[in-house]
Amino acid sequence: MDESTNSPVPTSQFGGSAASEMPPVYPPAAWQPTLPPANPDPEASVTAMQPAPATGTATAPDETELAPPGDEIGPEKIGPTGRPLPDLPTPEPVHEHGPARVISMCNQKGGVGKTTTTINLGAALAEYGRKVLLVDFDPQGSLSVGLGLNPHEMDLTIYDLLLSRDYKIDEVIRPTGIDGLDILPSNIDLSAAEVQLVQEVAREQTLSRVLEPVMADYDVVLIDCQPSLGLLTINALTASDGVVVPLECEYFALRGVALLKHTIDKVTERLNPRLRIDGLLGTMFDGRTLHGREVLQRLVDAWGEDVFHTVIRRTVKFSDSTVAGEPITRYAGTSAGAESYRQLAREVLARCPDE
Ligand SMILES: Nc1ncnc2c1ncn2[C@@H]1O[C@H](COP(=O)(O)OP(=O)(O)OP(=O)(O)O)[C@@H](O)[C@H]1O
Ligand SMILES: [Mg+2]
Repeated sequence: MDESTNSPVPTSQFGGSAASEMPPVYPPAAWQPTLPPANPDPEASVTAMQPAPATGTATAPDETELAPPGDEIGPEKIGPTGRPLPDLPTPEPVHEHGPARVISMCNQKGGVGKTTTTINLGAALAEYGRKVLLVDFDPQGSLSVGLGLNPHEMDLTIYDLLLSRDYKIDEVIRPTGIDGLDILPSNIDLSAAEVQLVQEVAREQTLSRVLEPVMADYDVVLIDCQPSLGLLTINALTASDGVVVPLECEYFALRGVALLKHTIDKVTERLNPRLRIDGLLGTMFDGRTLHGREVLQRLVDAWGEDVFHTVIRRTVKFSDSTVAGEPITRYAGTSAGAESYRQLAREVLARCPDE
């Protein structure tokens, strides 16, 4: 592995402190993580990190509605990543749509919140008036199911577009019931594409070719990748301008991020020079535990400003909204989870202003 890919400049806001200064869980301004010195190698960071002592896992009454540590503590709000929260203004409405910015949700680790982020970031962007196309690029078809589609009742899916030129993309795109939010669905058929695409000419550019006819119609295209770094994911990265990397805020989260970065660098070098990392997103964060905060601290130490200020907290409302087949912004529109994804949408738009 190319070690040079593991070394973004650490930009931690925190100094180290002795173990005896172990802080209480809540007062964030005073919080000093008791970690080994910052290590810019994300993989090494994980192995160097000690599990949180039992005293750090105090519980709070409500897992879902906790304010981020540091909220309301003075003129400058400190966010859950330990950095001052930037001002994220409500985006200006757009009067014309397109051309689309394509963003892949990518992490080869499973169950980290890729699909949840695709659905809810997409829905939040649509609330801000953006025209959004969600691309289900995972044979598990979770994105399609999570938006209420039945995988057994799909005549056409993205598989048909990838492997045949007989269909137009407009025939496959479906509305989601949310204004401004469409989906290119998939189901288990897509699993065959990985093997079949190998024989194609320009196999890595196949998804780019498929999306091309509708790029002018959308402002944002979000691609939900499968948990692997195979040919489908390479296709997604080749079609993308940016990558969002969701990471569960737990002990093993950073393992594999360096490998993902290595893959992104290879794609940038050989296939798609405009590709960049839009940000790493902490998901399933539990503000009650020191452990979650330590993981976020590690992320910021290793990846600096690449880490989104927005962090998605753990709440069962996400699973509930999946069962309901709706984004959380509709299912529980005033919940903290919905608000977090709106904040993420503002942060994404602030990082990548409409061109
Ligand atoms: N912030 C959260 N709090 C609680 N549960 C969550 C949160 N985000 C996602 N989940 C749940 O975790 C599970 C995995 O999430 P999701 O399907 O989004 O991950 P994924 O990375 O797309 O998984 P895969 O790699 O299998 O595609 C789902 O049941 C989802 O409802
Ligand atoms: Mg998924």
